[in-house]
Formats: sequence, C-alpha cells, structure tokens
Amino acid sequence: MPHNTTDSQEAPFIVIEGLDGAGGTTQCRLLQSWLERHGHSVLSTNEPTGQPVGTFIRSVLQDPHSKVGDEVLAYLFAADRQDHLTRTILPALSSDTVVISDRYYHSSLAYQSLSLDFDFVAQLNVPFRAPDITIFLLLEPETSFARVQERGLPLERFETLDRLRSIAASYNRVIDYCQKRGEHIVCLDATQSIEEIHDRICSEISLLINIPQPL
Ligand code: TMP
Repeated sequence: MPHNTTDSQEAPFIVIEGLDGAGGTTQCRLLQSWLERHGHSVLSTNEPTGQPVGTFIRSVLQDPHSKVGDEVLAYLFAADRQDHLTRTILPALSSDTVVISDRYYHSSLAYQSLSLDFDFVAQLNVPFRAPDITIFLLLEPETSFARVQERGLPLERFETLDRLRSIAASYNRVIDYCQKRGEHIVCLDATQSIEEIHDRICSEISLLINIPQPL
C-alpha cells in the first residue's frame, strides 16, 4: 500500500476520475445521495476547488490567451490540492464524513504530463494522501469531445480532440502507475447508462464500507 493511504479509523476517501464529459460530476452527485440515504455523512467536493488557488486555475483554463505556462499550472494544481486536503478533505475524514472528490491527483498525472515529464508530475504529487478507492470512468476521446461540445460552453484549455486523445492514453499510464503503488482502482465503461454506472459504483463502495446493495 502507498505509505500515505487510509487510517482505518477514518471514513473512506473516494475519488471519481475521467476525461472531460465522462460523467464524473453526475456520478459524484448520485453517489452522495445514495450514501446519505444509507445514513452516512458525506462531503462532495472537487478539483480545481472554489478556494483562491482553484479559482485562479479555473480562470487560467478558461483564458485562451493565458500566459500561465504548463509547468506553473502543475504547481498551481498541487498548491490547490494541498489547500484542499488541509482545509477540507482531512478534517472531514477525521470527523467520520465520507469524502467524494470529483478529480484528484490522477488528473494532474494525466493532464499535466501531456507537456511535462510524467515523473516530474508524479513527484509533485507524492506527498498527497492516496484515496481509499478511485473510480476511473473510461471514455473514447471522440465521445468525450462530442459531449464537451454538446454543452455549448466555450472550450477550456484541454478540450481539443488532439489533447483529449493524448490524455486518454495518459490515463492508461496513470492507472498502471497507481496500481503499482497499491492503490485501489476500479475502471468502468463511461458509455454505459448513468444508472448502470451508478449501480456499479454503489456495488464497489458497498464492498468497501460494508453497506447494502443499491436501494
Ligand atoms: P472540470 O471541472 O470540468 O472537470 O474541469 C477541470 C479541468 O481541469 C479538466 O480539463 C481537467 C483539468 N485538470 C487538470 O488538468 N489537472 C488537475 O490536477 C485537475 C484536478 C484538473
């Protein structure tokens, strides 16, 4: 197991990951409701955060003329993650609240290693506590791009078909890297229906925290 993984006294830390348009945000919301219906206290959160560093990152992602380079962005994501852990995630876990994060360091490994050395990004993220389970929603980059376009919003920094193709390949490397570190990884096909994916996620989580199958 990674040295910085769970303390068995704490509530579990769950991460949902995947390409833009993979449905991670929807699945986080559904999982939160399901866990709450089973009597758990749940904190649903996301990266980049809504805290100062995360808010600045979002503005960089949305600005096609941003002068913030890729290496600085990698440090910013790490700074936001440090803030996220100390301010939000760790206090919740120690007060027996299940934490669900929409994206975590796996996104940095997949997205920032597009233009930076994978080992450099991995080293930046070594200090951060590993999740107890990470669900990867796997999607073809063409489907990801089509879903992003359907939103009708301005495209962000990584939302081009070429970049999404590279990030999809990079996620495979991330999965391999995390499995070798002993992380608990579950890969699901993100082209299944929302309900099918939700049911699969609930089954996995109920094994982890010992609660009944979906209501
Ligand atoms: P989202 O909120 O729609 O998921 O968008 C967040 C974007 O930021 C998405 O394109 C992935 C990217 N990202 C990184 O590049 N590195 C990171 O560490 C994180 C958390 C997100």
